[in-house]
Amino acid sequence: MRIVSGIQPTGNLHLGNYLGAIRNWVRMQDEYSAKGGQCLYFLADLHAISMPHTPSELGAATREMVAALVSCGIDPDKSILFNQAQVPAHAELQWLLNGTARMGWLNRMTQWKDKAGKNREGASVALFTYPVLQAADVLLYQATHVPVGEDQKQHLELARDIAQKFNNDFCAEDAPLFTLPEPIIPPEAARIMSLRDGSAKMSKSDPSDMSRINLTDDADAIMQKVKKAKTDPEPLPATVEGLAGRPEANNLVGIYAAMAGVTPASVLTDFEGKGFGQFKPALGELLVEKLSPMAARYRELRQDRESLDAILAKGAFKARDLAAPTLARTYEALGLVRG
Ligand code: TYM
Repeated sequence: MRIVSGIQPTGNLHLGNYLGAIRNWVRMQDEYSAKGGQCLYFLADLHAISMPHTPSELGAATREMVAALVSCGIDPDKSILFNQAQVPAHAELQWLLNGTARMGWLNRMTQWKDKAGKNREGASVALFTYPVLQAADVLLYQATHVPVGEDQKQHLELARDIAQKFNNDFCAEDAPLFTLPEPIIPPEAARIMSLRDGSAKMSKSDPSDMSRINLTDDADAIMQKVKKAKTDPEPLPATVEGLAGRPEANNLVGIYAAMAGVTPASVLTDFEGKGFGQFKPALGELLVEKLSPMAARYRELRQDRESLDAILAKGAFKARDLAAPTLARTYEALGLVRG
């Protein structure tokens, strides 16, 4: 088992990141590192420069995201925690895979379409080739499993397509170079939605901070955001089917279920017929109870720049080592002479 996943160090870690991905990172770390499996988790700082960014803020954001991940339970002694910029093999492999990825494949990526919008001519080339770097991130380590939220599924499918085509084009049939990675998406929290709009995903790029719960939010902010969350006037239904056509209610019930570790059906058994005036305070309290220990650890850790840099240096050292064989084999498969 080789588990690999990444997060962009832009903005705060929010509840969507936590429930959709990071919680699974921690679970997989605890389960597989004990059995000799290896987990690599990284800050996708190279991806972060595909959108306009402020250089003087990127370093701080990278360290803060390390502090956030450690606060959520990523243990740098069990997992390899690093940032892409310290492992040049990511950028190198991306270039080598650019010969295999097809324009048509990248043109179909929904993230590219959403982020470039109507201004494709003005979008960066990095935004377009972003999924090739993401493919390199996982193929470099022969990842078998990639824990992510639903929004990354298409990028993972592309990584599989690139791996398959490369293996077909450049490797003997009985000696494929790249492993095809499997996405691991938590069914109960595949897509956490904005608190202001049940049809948009919770995201760090939403201009309204009221749309998301951040790991850094204190208890008052959490209660306030849940209280102000958009809902409808109906009471909660008895069954999950009754949530159809009620995206905001569905989202809040889903968050409650994921946080409490129960099914949405059992949440509805407890809250059937109750209005949001009763449900929201219960949800807010649950969030505060579960998130505040992590938030407290985060506030302490983020001060300690030296330790955070040491974590990244140690992780990068190990990642460079693990990346080297696959990178060398890729150069070789392509016929590139390296002395
Ligand atoms: P990023 O930084 O946008 O998000 C990090 C992880 O959080 C998940 N996520 C969500 N899950 C459920 N509901 C939401 N509202 C929500 N918002 C975010 C994402 O699915 C992701 O798993 N391109 C990636 C980073 C990346 C990567 C990789 C991931 C770079 N290389 C290789 C996996 C493997 C990204 O921007 O994620």
